[in-house]
Amino acid sequence: MRSLRLLLVAALVAQSAALWAEDGAAGWLRYAPVQNAKQYSSLPAAVVPLDHSPVIESAAREAARGLTHMLGHPVMTGDAFSSMPEFVIGTVTEVEARFPQWRPAAPLKAEGYAIAQVRDHGRTDWVIAGADERGALYGTFHLLEEIAEEKSIASLETVSSPAEQIRWVNQWDNLDGSIERGYAGRSIFFDNGGVRPDLTRAGEYARLLASVGINGCAVNNVNADLRMLTPQMIPQLARIADAFRPWGVRLAISVDLSSPKAIGGLDTFDPLNPQVIAWWQKKVDAIYAQIPDFGGFVVKADSEGQPGPSHYGRTPADAANLLARALKPHGGVLMYRAFVYNHHLDWHDLKADRARAAYDIFHPLDGKFDSNVLVQIKYGPIDFQVREPASPLFAGLRHTNEAIELEITQEYTGQQRQLVFLVPLWKTILDFDMRADGRYTPVKQIVEGRSFHRPLGGFAGVANVGLDTNWLAHPLAMANLYGFGRLAWNPDTTSSTIAEDWARLTFGSDPLVVSTIDRMLLSSWPIYEQYTGPLGLQTLTNILGPHYGPDPQSADHNGWGQWIRADHAGVGMDRTVSTGTGFIGQYPPQVASMYESLATCPDNLLLFMHHVPYIYRLHAGPTVIQYIYNAHYTGAKGAANLVTEWKTLKGHIDDQRYEHVLELQEYQAGAAIVWRDAINDWFHAMSGIPDDQGRVGHHPNRIEAESMQLDGYVPVDVTPWETASGSKAISCGQKVCSATTVLKRSAGRYTIAVQYFDYLHGVSTYKLFLNNKVIATWKADNTLPGDSMSGDTSTRYTLCNVELHPGDLLKIEGRPNGGEPAPIDYVEIIPDSSSSR
Ligand code: GCU
Repeated sequence: MRSLRLLLVAALVAQSAALWAEDGAAGWLRYAPVQNAKQYSSLPAAVVPLDHSPVIESAAREAARGLTHMLGHPVMTGDAFSSMPEFVIGTVTEVEARFPQWRPAAPLKAEGYAIAQVRDHGRTDWVIAGADERGALYGTFHLLEEIAEEKSIASLETVSSPAEQIRWVNQWDNLDGSIERGYAGRSIFFDNGGVRPDLTRAGEYARLLASVGINGCAVNNVNADLRMLTPQMIPQLARIADAFRPWGVRLAISVDLSSPKAIGGLDTFDPLNPQVIAWWQKKVDAIYAQIPDFGGFVVKADSEGQPGPSHYGRTPADAANLLARALKPHGGVLMYRAFVYNHHLDWHDLKADRARAAYDIFHPLDGKFDSNVLVQIKYGPIDFQVREPASPLFAGLRHTNEAIELEITQEYTGQQRQLVFLVPLWKTILDFDMRADGRYTPVKQIVEGRSFHRPLGGFAGVANVGLDTNWLAHPLAMANLYGFGRLAWNPDTTSSTIAEDWARLTFGSDPLVVSTIDRMLLSSWPIYEQYTGPLGLQTLTNILGPHYGPDPQSADHNGWGQWIRADHAGVGMDRTVSTGTGFIGQYPPQVASMYESLATCPDNLLLFMHHVPYIYRLHAGPTVIQYIYNAHYTGAKGAANLVTEWKTLKGHIDDQRYEHVLELQEYQAGAAIVWRDAINDWFHAMSGIPDDQGRVGHHPNRIEAESMQLDGYVPVDVTPWETASGSKAISCGQKVCSATTVLKRSAGRYTIAVQYFDYLHGVSTYKLFLNNKVIATWKADNTLPGDSMSGDTSTRYTLCNVELHPGDLLKIEGRPNGGEPAPIDYVEIIPDSSSSR
């Protein structure tokens, strides 16, 4: 027996309790002790890596770490153990050399793995064999996940290969440490104009990514900083690559196409200019000299102000091939984003349509891209909206590699203050059958390269994790990162399998916990869609600002092209071939005819495809306007129900995460009411059509702050008007102000909700008095996106179970702070056991 290294011993078992601080840092890799460790007693207690490459070493260490924690006895790792059964981890070639009689049960694709038991000299070993080193690591994580979920020993034996070869996350991190559309703290990679000295979190992130099979990470914003390609930056990037390497994650970066001119001393960045070609080759060679496993580049060009080939009358293919040719000798790939459009469109032109842009620009170039280029296509033709049809470009490129771009960071879907499990949204796109050539061609098989026989395919997920301990701010948002990896590996996996696996790994196997979290996850996207953008309206948010709160009028009357064309008679974009922009004609004929006809267009995309009168009747029964009203009430109720569901878990999970999620869900329930009222009031004003259930514009439990007796407070108009009840709020311009009212409610128990505005900056203090006695105090210390009264900052404080009598005096006192004028919108007095109006 050669050197025996005991890396993990009993002391580790004893210490392990400390590892279960439920702060979310471990993500789904908690390795909590299994309930019934006995069922695994026949598993080996030793792990043998068959080579000493960094990735195989990580796999062996991970196996020992996970098994030790979960099974409660020390599992050792070493080069060989004479008599004990072993987990043997290596490549198929290495495993076959060790066990000549063994073969994987089925052929493996690159990065796939086989896990099997092998009888050897009278004992049973387990092999985890990868098609390559990464495969062995992914197999190890798979085995650990199965045990964490307490699956049977028999089910541990398996063979699996990834559907996609490129499984990357994109981070939109800036060199100053901020993150574009990041909602969980500052960058784990950059600070102060360079790479952080401490990259511990970068290594931990790579481990999480590897555990779900992600094999690449582009670390900087697609709106790329020119400094990324300066000579000083490359050794810094090499440090990130070093942190990634043990986990098989390849470093990639986003680059600015104008670099040869902007920082390279050339007077052009024309992709066909020989000096430019030479400049990129030299730059790429310099990168590979320091980062031999560098993954490649992501490019955003001719988009939202980024320079691009159009400057020289060149095409995206010219630009993509320029970089791809420099990368090719080193094995790198070039991800060219199809998110190219004109954001100065003429709103008055009824034929203008941003949704057409990607297809119009890229379809004519099909077949002109080199073999190591992937065109990276956002799932829908606009921009990560709560619902969009699949981009027609997926079927529009037959001779070009494609990757689908998904957004894990919840830019348009609640920014990780609200629960939206995105896997079902992604599945509707991946499973959508484009009917190319009249045959079954779902998006997932197109991007995999299967439908059109392409050599390469992939998934890119915009992740934007940050320095927050739990990575994504909302503890349940991690299901999206996990789900992205699972789908990139196997897009046939169902949403409920992913939800359930993630819930078990993250919260344990208590059936109540698992079923409740599953239900919450699976209902969350439909709920959010209902209150933010039903019928294909897209997320009706402030598209000119932070993309968060309601602001439907920001969609129209500008050049951005996220239009809904709402007027007094009707709503929706006419994208038909017969009378509209012709966008629908970009789909293969069967899909085009389904969308073109009102008789077959699904309700959930109706207003994306057609402009119809408000009184148009849906397949579902109600008119468009009534459906909009209903959906917002159903959505807000659904958001309130998420709180009720979560509360059933008290005592069944740790307090730390219970309280954190509860606070967020209570916030979301309030935010959904803000959305409901803003969108419904706006459409009510636009259409002049009343809600047939009499809810919209009628809030019998509500007392407008501006109608209360004010001391110091002054009424103000809120913009946009529909984001404040009655379009007004009150604002305090002095040290302390108050608003008082005499209640006229019959005696009983009530919930008191105070709707106020909580700015990003400033921490106002509020006190609620009943008959001059303080019954609640709170601080406006949330970090909502904005420093004005709007749908972005509107939130509520709720106090339940308050006994009230007619004539009670209710007073709210507000103390401004840091420029935040203790603003208040209204008070709502809701009889207990009735729903909020
Ligand atoms: C959205 C997002 C931008 C981002 C862009 C992109 O428009 O709001 O922040 O830069 O997408 O994907 O390039």
